[in-house]
Amino acid sequence: MTIRRSVVLGCGSYLPSHVLTNEDLALKVDTSDEWIVQRTGIHERRIAAPGETTSQMATQAARSALAHARVEAQSIDLIVLATSTPDNTFPASAVSVQADLGITRGAAFDLQAVCSGFVYALATADALLRSGGFSRALVIGAETFSRLLDWTDRSTCVLFGDGAGAVVLDAQDQPEGPNARGILTTQLRSDGRHKSKLYVDGGPSSTGTVGHLRMEGREVFRHAVAMITDVVEDAFKATGYTSADIDWFIPHQANKRIIDGSAHKLGIAPAKIVTTVDRHGNTSAASIPLALADALAERRIKRGDLLLLEAMGGGFTWGAALLRW
Ligand code: ACO
Repeated sequence: MTIRRSVVLGCGSYLPSHVLTNEDLALKVDTSDEWIVQRTGIHERRIAAPGETTSQMATQAARSALAHARVEAQSIDLIVLATSTPDNTFPASAVSVQADLGITRGAAFDLQAVCSGFVYALATADALLRSGGFSRALVIGAETFSRLLDWTDRSTCVLFGDGAGAVVLDAQDQPEGPNARGILTTQLRSDGRHKSKLYVDGGPSSTGTVGHLRMEGREVFRHAVAMITDVVEDAFKATGYTSADIDWFIPHQANKRIIDGSAHKLGIAPAKIVTTVDRHGNTSAASIPLALADALAERRIKRGDLLLLEAMGGGFTWGAALLRW
């Protein structure tokens, strides 16, 4: 007996070259390296070059994922790009990636779930692949949050960075059993009652402007750990696994205190946590594939490992995914 699964064939990432340190920020706003590190764990973040767009970074990450997977761009028939910072209001940045890769078949679209975007995109691509309508997908998270920040607001501008990460997902018929590779479950949640706690104060149908990111940081922090641990518990219930079975915990990289608090509440050992927030800051939908690529580059993840991914962000939206590498 076989089971149709979405298997990760490869992962890639792209970071802009410009590094913005906490010391650099202390020259712009009333803050300090000590405050930022203590409250968030962030030391530095990358900032896109002038004119460098989300789709350009997404294409770089996609090329790197295709090379890692050792497959041709022409084998891709689905592109799902998670972003809250598209190049333009429309068309979707995903079609720019598609054109840049020379792909003229299948479907490409953007998906917007803020920091939970990558988990939402993974769930969407997984469902489309398992439906039989598509065979191989690029799932990308790419953001230029630096363009949404109010650089005079010290409570938000220190938190975010730019970058992109991507995975190649392949629909495969795996032999049924505990060793079957691929995505085992995805769990998605949202609760729009919290929409004003983290939002952008502009948009095409409201102000006609791009707007700036606004956040009630303490409120986000207050809900984050409980929402993350609840949805991870649901992923465990759906699969029969527990935190003891997890080899690698690859969380959305918003804040080291949220990551460590969630791991502690779930009973996941610190040595199993993949952390990049210190070097990348919060790159929203890009943070999970960036962290995954980082762990792979360090050769930490091996075939058959059980990976737990989770994210929480604006909306609020939140979600988790369990996959066998
Ligand atoms: N440097 C120095 N002082 C600062 C800074 C800064 N960069 N930012 C705020 N402060 C000050 C505040 O003005 C306040 O001063 P006051 O007491 O004189 O009024 C003091 O520090 C404490 O402010 P709080 O907001 O209460 O600080 P807190 O300990 O909550 O930390 C933080 C703030 C880091 C934003 C925290 O609330 C947090 O991490 N929240 C979650 C935010 C987050 O992760 N968002 C993204 C998740 S969703 C997504 O990924 C899109």
